[in-house]
Amino acid sequence: MEKKEIEIIYIKKINELKKHDRAYFEHDNPIISDKVYDEIKQEILNLEKKYKYLKNKNSPSEKVGYKPSSKFAKINHSVPMLSLANAFSIENIEDFLKKIKNFLNLKNPDTITLSAEPKIDGISASLKYINGNFSLGLSRGDGKVGEDITNNLKTIKDIPQKINKADFPKILDIRGEVYISKSDFKKISKKFANPRNAAGGSLRQKDPNETKKIPLKFVAYGFGDVEKRNFEKQSEYLKLLKTWGFNTNSLNKVVSTINDIEKNHKEIETQRSTIDYDLDGLVYKVDSIKLQNRLGFVSNSPRWAIAHKFSAEKGFSIIKNIEIQVGRTGALTPVAKIEPINIGGVVVSNATLHNEDEIIRKDIRISDTVCIQRAGDVIPQVLYVDKKKRNKNSKKFNFPDYCPSCGSKTVKEFNYSTKKKDAVTRCPDPKFDCKQILREKLKHFVSKDALNIDGFGKKIIQNFWDLNMIKYPADIFKLDFKKISNLDGWGSLSASNLEKAIKKSKEITLDKFIFSIGIRHIGQENAKTLARYFLNINKFEEIFDKEKRKKILNYLLELDGIGETQVNSLEIFFSNTSNLKNVSNLIKKLNIDDFKTIKSGIFYGKTIMFTGGLSKMSRAEAKALVEKEGGKILGTTSKKLDYLVVGDSKPTIKKVDKAKQLKIKILDENSWYGLLNR
Ligand code: IVH
Repeated sequence: MEKKEIEIIYIKKINELKKHDRAYFEHDNPIISDKVYDEIKQEILNLEKKYKYLKNKNSPSEKVGYKPSSKFAKINHSVPMLSLANAFSIENIEDFLKKIKNFLNLKNPDTITLSAEPKIDGISASLKYINGNFSLGLSRGDGKVGEDITNNLKTIKDIPQKINKADFPKILDIRGEVYISKSDFKKISKKFANPRNAAGGSLRQKDPNETKKIPLKFVAYGFGDVEKRNFEKQSEYLKLLKTWGFNTNSLNKVVSTINDIEKNHKEIETQRSTIDYDLDGLVYKVDSIKLQNRLGFVSNSPRWAIAHKFSAEKGFSIIKNIEIQVGRTGALTPVAKIEPINIGGVVVSNATLHNEDEIIRKDIRISDTVCIQRAGDVIPQVLYVDKKKRNKNSKKFNFPDYCPSCGSKTVKEFNYSTKKKDAVTRCPDPKFDCKQILREKLKHFVSKDALNIDGFGKKIIQNFWDLNMIKYPADIFKLDFKKISNLDGWGSLSASNLEKAIKKSKEITLDKFIFSIGIRHIGQENAKTLARYFLNINKFEEIFDKEKRKKILNYLLELDGIGETQVNSLEIFFSNTSNLKNVSNLIKKLNIDDFKTIKSGIFYGKTIMFTGGLSKMSRAEAKALVEKEGGKILGTTSKKLDYLVVGDSKPTIKKVDKAKQLKIKILDENSWYGLLNR
């Protein structure tokens, strides 16, 4: 049989399986028996085994989890369910601890006690108990909004329905992991690719009787909303959970030195294969809840916790080609296209080569045999070349001097903070019309932290882009869903789901909107700072006007976190007419909510600046406190400033003098702590 024919058969089978997945998961109405389903699945896996080039995202060998169904009610989490940053080495953990100490302004002999907990690879859930009664169970969803899966969770034996303990808080959201043990997984239908997939799939059954058939377990490890909290430490909470009748992990431990951390990680990693559940690392949480609250979080993950992954898996393959991808910010990333290999259960066919310097340093060439490393959900990378296997007439790889997408001469920028030339080669995209950059911006636009259009992933963007259906973000709101429903792989249900998701995404807050338009150097935090300044979209639109922009940018420079780099980038972006047109078109399509500032607090309506180090807290913590209390941080002394806080350690005299001249209220460290009641 020809390659093309095999591919056609393969895709047909994948689509068939997809249809049955939908019938089973979304409509709870399977058309075929489990046996026939398994046969189709096996046929796909056999084909992949025989013809290594076959690969598809929807294949049972690739799929993890199933997309949330619209059949459950969506409910807000009272406290968001955050995600965790990853660490892959002990150095990463040392870094994590250093950052915590810096933030809390602790000196080196001080130690931070951590709760070290195995990270079970399952599905997280939040269980709300009111007066001891299990009253609402939610899936994580996007972290802010979850699905109401109460009835399914009620079928899990490990989850108590009622707790009659005097020390159980009046309201408590218990967070933990729903999972299937490895041994139970072996016993159940082979409908799922792995235990995690099985847990996710069965939790999302419409009929709780179906969930009941699958031996789900629950281990508790966290909390959301709590009234009144009667524990001071995470480790104390874990002990209480046990007395209240919940399962906690028997391998939980309290650690405080880097040696303890490393030893514990090694010990559990060695036991990994003998443990009866899948775990992909450990989670470390600052044990003191008071410190957790001081540390807070950045974007979606807490500063006080991190996941320490187990070591990465490796494999060898051959580089077939090196392709250059152009990212959203114009960065040219070389990607090695390799002979597909299976590394730890995942088929890898691409590996990042990072940048030109990396290729030179490792002397990576087309047709080389290379060692590939895959760690968690991070893009696989090339570790080194097996030079013994190198082809004699292989040639060094020439990094392109011109953008492969638009032909502009590439540049390496000077980085003002490192005072060095960047390692990254960039397409300068002078007219903002480089095709690949436009396409990547679309992917950014629909992504989770931007418009968060449910089910609108990178692959769909690529597909619609190839079909010339979208070019600019506003095009997404003009899509023809009738046409989409007739496309390959689509149907009326999926097209209508996409339509609903797009409609829902039109309600957006100003900070998310600013982030989503993808201005270089304006990340999530800077977008918030800008939104806090503009407050509403009308005010934001003033930046389109050349004269007004000058004044705005001048003011923005005073804001903390906004420097020359950001201001230059804003000037370049908004002086381009096609950007102005695109952003205006987009504004017309969206309902942009005003930025919600905190309208109370001791610093409400006040501007504050700091100079000099404080002894009891870091600058970062002081700033976070001001913002929490409704204030705004400025970066330069001007008439607009209400308070200058002068720390004991090395304040800038010039700033203090200027503040005195302008008759600005000056606070020394003691008055600052006094204001905070500390
Ligand atoms: S704490 C802010 N603790 O890992 C704290 N998560 O990458 C966030 N997980 O979504 C979660 N075991 O599904 C926490 N002992 C543990 C955990 C754990 C497994 C999962 C959970 C979470 C993901 C975070």
